[in-house]
Parts: sequence; C-alpha cells; structure tokens
Amino acid sequence: MAGFDSRGTFQKAANEYTKIQDTFPHVIRDPLLADMAVKEGDRILDLPCGTGDAIVRAAQIAGPTGHALAIDVAPSMIEEAKAKAEAAGLKNIEFVVEDMEKAQFDAAAYDIVVSSCGPFFASDLKAFLTKLWGAVKPGGKLVLCTLGRNFLAPISGVLLDLAQSKTDDLQAPTPWRSTEDIRFLKTLLGEVTNGQRVNLAHRSVIMDYQTPDAGWNLLMATAFRNYTLELSPESRAEIEAEMKEWMRSNRQTTATCGFNNITIVKDDA
Ligand SMILES: C[S@@+](CC[C@H](N)C(=O)[O-])C[C@H]1O[C@@H](n2cnc3c(N)ncnc32)[C@H](O)[C@@H]1O
Repeated sequence: MAGFDSRGTFQKAANEYTKIQDTFPHVIRDPLLADMAVKEGDRILDLPCGTGDAIVRAAQIAGPTGHALAIDVAPSMIEEAKAKAEAAGLKNIEFVVEDMEKAQFDAAAYDIVVSSCGPFFASDLKAFLTKLWGAVKPGGKLVLCTLGRNFLAPISGVLLDLAQSKTDDLQAPTPWRSTEDIRFLKTLLGEVTNGQRVNLAHRSVIMDYQTPDAGWNLLMATAFRNYTLELSPESRAEIEAEMKEWMRSNRQTTATCGFNNITIVKDDA
C-alpha cells in the first residue's frame, strides 16, 4: 500500500463512525461545540465535516438566519450527515462532496471555520490552513482539533503490528502524526495567521469501549481501518479474531486518545 487512502477508508467507515460519535459525544463533538460557541445568525464552514456531528448541531443553534456549509470527500460520510440534518428539519445547511483542498468557498465570509480530525489529511497542510484562515471574517474564528500523540493507544499499535505481520509490503502511513506536536502546530499557525494569538488546549480522554467487539468497531471507525483495506478477507478475519483475543486475554477495555483543541480569533478589520 503506497499512500493513505482517506476517501476509501472513510467511505467504508461511515456507519461505524456514526455509532462511535453517538456513543462518545464528549470525545470530539462537545469540546468542539464549546470552542465554536455558535450564535444565532452565524455563518459556519466545516471541512472535513465527517458524519456532521458538530456542524448539524451548530446549524441548529445558528437558526434560520444562519448558514452552514459542510464539505467532505467521502459520500457515505456526507449521507450520514445529511440524514442527521434532515432528522433535525434543518434548511440552513448545505453539503458538498469534494476534496477539501480543492473546495471553493467565499473568502472572509464565515463567523466560524472549523476543521476537526482532518486537517492532517491535506497534502499541503500550510496551504490548507491558509485557505481556512482566509475564509474567516474579521472578528470571526478558526476552530481546529488535531490528534495528540496517543491515538487509541494501546489497541491501535497492536492492530498495526498484526496488519504488518500478515502483509509483507504493508506500509503504515500515519498522516495524523504531522500535527501531533504542539510546538510545531503553534509555530505553523502563528505563520498562517500572521501572529494572531493561538489558544491551544491539550486533552487526553479514555474511551471505555467495554467489549472486544466494540474495541474492534472503534478501530474500524477510524483511520486505522486504512490498514485493512488491502488485506484478503481471510487475513482481515484473522486479524479481527487475534485483536479480539488480545483484548480479552489482556483485559483491555479502554483506549486513550489525545487531542489538541485550537481556537484563533481574527482581529476586527
Ligand atoms: C476522522 S473524520 C473527522 C470528521 C469530523 N470532522 C469529526 O471531527 O468527527 C475524518 C474525515 O476526513 C475526511 N477526509 C479525509 N481526507 C479528505 C479530503 N482530502 N477532503 C475532504 N475530506 C477528507 C474523511 O472522509 C472523514 O470524513
């Protein structure tokens, strides 16, 4: 496997991703909404929006005088997000299936631009963040969430080792690690925003998945699914069985996940 196939991974993961977000709203959605602090009438841009957990709630709060634009490259993730918006009866949210680096949107037009657990998938991170910053209105804010050093430890490491032991040439690209370093992130964002104040809070959360089946589903909801895409059905079944046995025999029922939550307010013009 050469690069990281983020579209292929999340196209297959959408169903599990929705369930994980519903089970663990305090892990990504709630802290993100707290940083966004949406007000009635806000215009909000979210990319990549995934299954829409934050943006649908944000659009509800923004109300009919507000507007939300939600972009993601995986059609199945957008379908999940659309279903949530329809269930909430929202008319103020637009969904676009598109590569976030190629997506078109207005400059200096949004009260809130949000990018959670996705900026690291950009092939040119600085250019992508610069584009996001350009979309923020004077007085508006950029809200980011990146992964920290522990991303579903320890089960993610066990999965990677098993996948590589079954596939001689399996590369294991880890794009999310490009933004795990707090000093690097602060420096990069300082450059992108011409020295605006970067508010960064690190969080480590323990996800209590409770059963080996749920632990496997958690991994398959995330970027770690990528490493199973090219395995034969037999190898995949073997890895799933070995992972579950490892969790059972080691009494592993939790995973640690680190996040860097960032808010940058743009000076008023
Ligand atoms: C881990 S999910 C995060 C979703 C959501 N922002 C959240 O915090 O729950 C990563 C998302 O990035 C999307 N993605 C990855 N590469 C992308 C790209 N180049 N353009 C647009 N979306 C992309 C995937 O389809 C997936 O929905």
